[in-house]
Amino acid sequence: MADAAAVDTVTSVPVAIVGAGPAGLMLAHLLGRAGIESIAIDTRTRHEIETTQRAGILEADVARDLVETGVSDRILRDGDEHEGIELRFGGRPYRIDFKELVGESVWLYPQTDVFIDLAAARDRDGGTVHFGVRDTEVLDVTSEQPRVRYTAPDGTRHEIRARYVVGADGSRSMCRGLVPEDRRVRYTKEYPFAWFGIMTEAPASAPELVYACSEHGFALISQRTETVQRMYFQCDPDEPVDAWSDDRIWATLQARVAGEDGFRLTEGPIFEKTVLRFRSFVQEPMRWGSMVLAGDAAHTVPPTGARGLNLALHDVKVLADVLLRALGGEGAGALEDYQSRALQRVWRAQNFSYWMTRLLHTAPGGTPFDFRRQLGELDNVVGTRAGRGYLAEQYTGWPTRTSA
Ligand code: PHB
Repeated sequence: MADAAAVDTVTSVPVAIVGAGPAGLMLAHLLGRAGIESIAIDTRTRHEIETTQRAGILEADVARDLVETGVSDRILRDGDEHEGIELRFGGRPYRIDFKELVGESVWLYPQTDVFIDLAAARDRDGGTVHFGVRDTEVLDVTSEQPRVRYTAPDGTRHEIRARYVVGADGSRSMCRGLVPEDRRVRYTKEYPFAWFGIMTEAPASAPELVYACSEHGFALISQRTETVQRMYFQCDPDEPVDAWSDDRIWATLQARVAGEDGFRLTEGPIFEKTVLRFRSFVQEPMRWGSMVLAGDAAHTVPPTGARGLNLALHDVKVLADVLLRALGGEGAGALEDYQSRALQRVWRAQNFSYWMTRLLHTAPGGTPFDFRRQLGELDNVVGTRAGRGYLAEQYTGWPTRTSA
């Protein structure tokens, strides 16, 4: 039984959420709208989450959900609707026109802004979120009374008693480790390269995202605001950030996007440099007793297909639906639906992210044959309506079913 003496406070809520990033907070928001209280905790401070650059593309459906569920309509004012992307290879640009091909678009709205809006919506709606906690423990997940314990920033120790615990604690999830080793499977794919990400103070170099494949490797030109841009290029994961001077970064990026159309990036001061390692990962099962995993805690994808945040927000949409049913009288059986409904999209997104990554990056040690074959594949993608349509359909996402 719970040893209440070891903690300063004990609070009971239907759902405890470990992880207060976009997935955790969106779940809290959706539950809150239906009158179900939750407490979300995170080891990071609010400021840390707000200032850690992440991806920036939202599916139209996800953007609509943020507006229609009352998180915020700021996306409509500050976000940018993109009706396509540009692929560049062999020194030429090719536009993939999402609107024309599949009638959809995506929104450029950084994950940091999604988080800021969700955290503000929690404040507005009186939701409870504790940032900057430590020593998180999740106990008794195989019982019907799981508990979460944590130490607050002021050193006091707290316990949350819940009916369900949600592990939305990101790609370094502690919660997923609660599924016993002999009962879980981890599917992993490592890549022999990483992304070097920069933030630069400069006007936009292109109106839409540019995904470039060159003999020297991949580059992605993204945007943030009229005066701040986000760019990435494929790098050796083991090379330290310090090895990259601003001059070397610009020379690398310019070489990867160069072409016969004379395209050049507008350069500016670089104020952030990060090496981003990535992998493809799925853990099954996504539920263990009274604990359910959502978002990066259960699955991560390489950033090339811009799926990660979209997938996480899809998980919590399905999860909110099954949790409301479970708490509304159906009981834990309602959770049985979650994994099968979430996983189909997860593996589709795994495939797309893997495909897009392999399509656009050069593998270290690749032969001239490999590069020519890759150009052939890119030609097949941009040169056929089926190829362009496939990319457009996958990139803009698949419709969400909220009921099985
Ligand atoms: C970004 O803007 O940070 C971004 C956009 C698209 C991606 C990855 C990152 O595929």
